[in-house]
Amino acid sequence: MSAVASDTAGTSGAPAAGRCFLVGAGPGPADYLTMRAVKLIGEADAIVYDDLGCEDALSYARPNAELVYVGKRGGKAESLKQPQIDQILVDLCTQGKQVVRLKGGCPSVFSRVASEMTALSVAAIPYELVPGVSSALAAPLFAGFPLTHVSLSTSFTVVSGHDIAGTDWASFRGLPTLVVLMAGRNLGQIARRLVEDAGWAPDTPVAVVRSAGLPDQRTWLTCLATAESDLAEAGQLSPCIVVVGKVAATGSIA
Ligand SMILES: C[S@@+](CC[C@H](N)C(=O)[O-])C[C@H]1O[C@@H](n2cnc3c(N)ncnc32)[C@H](O)[C@@H]1O
Repeated sequence: MSAVASDTAGTSGAPAAGRCFLVGAGPGPADYLTMRAVKLIGEADAIVYDDLGCEDALSYARPNAELVYVGKRGGKAESLKQPQIDQILVDLCTQGKQVVRLKGGCPSVFSRVASEMTALSVAAIPYELVPGVSSALAAPLFAGFPLTHVSLSTSFTVVSGHDIAGTDWASFRGLPTLVVLMAGRNLGQIARRLVEDAGWAPDTPVAVVRSAGLPDQRTWLTCLATAESDLAEAGQLSPCIVVVGKVAATGSIA
C-alpha cells in the first residue's frame, strides 16, 4: 500500500531514500500490537510516537533507535502542531531513515494520518499504512460487550466528542449505537445534545470505558439523563470511550 511504487536507495552516492510506516499501536498493552507493527518497530531507525497506546510498543525498538515524542494529548498549548509533526517525518525520511510513525489505536480513526500522507507524498517519500486495533472497537470488548448485536445494535457510528459546537448532533437521530471518542471533558454536554438535538430517550444506556485494556481500566454503566451526575466524582475520565445505545447495558462494571 505504498504511495510511491519504489524507493531510490543507493543511487549515485546520495543517501539511501528513507521511507515511512504509519503504524497503529493498538489501545495500549503490547499484546495488542500486530505482528507487523512489532517487526517494523524493531527495524526502525527512528520512531515518532504519540501519548496513547505507544509506550509499551517502544520496548520493541532497537537500543539505538531515535525516539521522537510528538504527543498532543488534550490539545496542550506546548504540544507540537500537526504541520510540525508532518515536517519531522519528512525530515527524518529525507535523511535516509526508515521511520515508524506510531499512532495509538488505528491510523484509520481520528489520527490525522491524512495530513502525514499528504506531506510524505508531496516530498515523494514512500509510505505504508499499517492498521492497528482501534480503541473504538477494543474498549467495548474490554468492558464485556460487542458493538453489534443481532437484536440490540445493527450498526454503530464513531464520532469525536472533542468539538461540541462543530458537530451536527441532530444527524445522529435514530441510530442504534454511537461510539464517542475524546469525550472525557464533554460527557454532560454530549448527553444533553443527544437528548435535545437528536431525540434520544433520556434512559438510553451509556457505557464509559476509561483506559481500556490498561491496568487502571474502569467502566461505568449509566444512561443519558444521569451520565454527568453519575460520573461527577469519577475524576479524570480521559482517555475514555463512550458507547451510547441499548447494547451498552450489556457491559460489565469493573
Ligand atoms: C486522537 S484519538 C485517537 C484514536 C485512535 N486512533 C484509535 O483508533 O483508538 C484519542 C482518543 O482515543 C481514545 N482512546 C485511545 N486509547 C484508549 C484507551 N486505551 N482507552 C479508552 N480510550 C482510548 C480516547 O477517546 C482518546 O481521547
